[in-house]
Amino acid sequence: MALLNILQYPDPRLHTVAKPVTEVDERVRRIVADMFETMYSAKGVGLAATQVDIHERIIVVDTSEQRDQPMVLINPEIVQRSSDCKEWEEGCLSLPGIYDKVTRPDRIRVRALDARGESFEIEGDGLLSVCVQHEMDHLDGKVFVDHLSALKRNRIRARMRKRQREAEAA
Ligand code: NI
Repeated sequence: MALLNILQYPDPRLHTVAKPVTEVDERVRRIVADMFETMYSAKGVGLAATQVDIHERIIVVDTSEQRDQPMVLINPEIVQRSSDCKEWEEGCLSLPGIYDKVTRPDRIRVRALDARGESFEIEGDGLLSVCVQHEMDHLDGKVFVDHLSALKRNRIRARMRKRQREAEAA
């Protein structure tokens, strides 16, 4: 297994639309294992392949408190979403230290393939629902700040650029 480099906003590669996985094979399982290692190491609750510059429709999540319920969703699709929405404060491993409120459907039902290529469905609300929707956005080239106003987004972009310049200079 290997730790993967997480792209930092506003890296333009974060806006790539990922392609469906055509076969869940050893290559894909290796990507999944590396993504889990990277997510746990960064103390995240979710990670999309897009964030590690792999543009295939794979996300990993673990919203459990014990960090012992890894779940992989390959080619995830939302098959049902509630009409009622909820606001959550979101963060992202591609924007460390930046949090803001995003409104999304409260409850979703998702169909995906697991690491053996078997189809399954999960239904959830709360953190799991937010996390899966957030990660699925990444696969469509969308970062959570794209849900915010242009004013807020520009402010965050400037802050991230400044931080990156400082890191380069250090
Ligand atoms: Ni994210």
